[in-house]
Amino acid sequence: MFEQFQYLNDQLYIEDVSINKISDEVGTPCYIYSYKSLKDRFEGYVDAFRELEPLICYSAKASSNIAILKAFSNLGAGFDIVSIGELKRVLKAGGDPQKVVFSGVGKTDIEIEEAINSNILFFNVESEEELHKINEIAIRLDKKAPIAIRVNPDISPDTHPYISTGFKESKFGIELSKAIEVYKDAAKMQGINICAIDAHIGSQIFDLSSFSDSIAKLVDLANKLIIQGLKIEYIDIGGGLGIKYEDKDNPPPKSEYAKIFEKHLKDKPFKLVLEPGRSLMGNSGIMTTKVLYRKEGSEKKFVIVDAAMNDLIRPSFYNSFHKIIPVNRTTAKDEVVDIVGPICESGDFLAKKRLFPKVEPGEILAVFSAGAYGFAMASNYNTRPRAAEVLVKDDKFYVIKSRETFEDLVRGEQIPDFL
Ligand code: LLP
Repeated sequence: MFEQFQYLNDQLYIEDVSINKISDEVGTPCYIYSYKSLKDRFEGYVDAFRELEPLICYSAKASSNIAILKAFSNLGAGFDIVSIGELKRVLKAGGDPQKVVFSGVGKTDIEIEEAINSNILFFNVESEEELHKINEIAIRLDKKAPIAIRVNPDISPDTHPYISTGFKESKFGIELSKAIEVYKDAAKMQGINICAIDAHIGSQIFDLSSFSDSIAKLVDLANKLIIQGLKIEYIDIGGGLGIKYEDKDNPPPKSEYAKIFEKHLKDKPFKLVLEPGRSLMGNSGIMTTKVLYRKEGSEKKFVIVDAAMNDLIRPSFYNSFHKIIPVNRTTAKDEVVDIVGPICESGDFLAKKRLFPKVEPGEILAVFSAGAYGFAMASNYNTRPRAAEVLVKDDKFYVIKSRETFEDLVRGEQIPDFL
């Protein structure tokens, strides 16, 4: 089982709170996060990296509820953001803008302006045009915008193609071979203050050699830039460390991950920036769902539940595996089932051909590893309100986002006069 989740008297608990209790009071589907788990995982990074003392910028896109952001901010985290919406969330949660790095290939003028005005630590610039745009806006504001160039180190880690970002054909970053020229151009720009180098090669990566290749290339580039007389204070290596979804998964420990960077950065004048998302939140949260019906076709058995692809899209989108167990421990015999949601799409499933104990309508299931890219990727497809979110600490739980109502869903919609 994942840390902070265990059966007690045959009922699943998160920390010291029964998931049945949360389900009774808050309903299903519901995202439930463990404070202790996210804290332990964050402190795990701090401890593993104690030699380098990096700035750990939690990647807000993984789970961006302001309570979660506040929790990380209190622990000393900075933030990796990709939109002005995420910056506003960070600021609302009391995050320090001087610990914010802003990535993303399509930053708009307004986003750039607000980020400059908020005094973020640096922009991760993804194209030459964006660099010129940031320069222009900074000059207009009579400021200097701190930047890193996001380089594309041409590394293809072994992960799902949708979440691999550092290979040559990807839309992210600027090719390494062009980077020095772009940095030299940037150095001449009045509104630009070069301070860092950045890369992010992808997500859910187990193979440490990909990170090792990436940091080696970044350090080499940093050295070359320094020889050119540029100032490089930070090396931002992005996020991407993988987590356990299936029992057979064996992600590398943080200590091994940290060693790679120590090897390349010890006694070097660069401060490391990390942007972890999934490895902090993924296994700190579950989604609960209730069994509505069972259905037996001639070919297949289905368990129909009240959560759907709009609530957790990862199985449909990436064919990803999420461990699912009944919240009340059962000795019922296993059968092979598809666990599916109510949405009108055949691609709406949480699990396919899964060996699962026979469950009856009304039973609650826990879907694991849903703390990152779970609620954050939820939608209102089929006019389904998004789930509630709950944070547990010790023996108490707190609703950190109420379930949406129909009024929330139609807010801003209007019927024109001619209808
Ligand atoms: N930094 C940048 C620039 C990123 O694009 C990402 C994730 C991260 C950091 C955090 O990476 P992590 O430590 O979480 O691997 N929706 C997909 C994952 C998309 C990741 C996008 N970028 C999923 O559900 O698997």
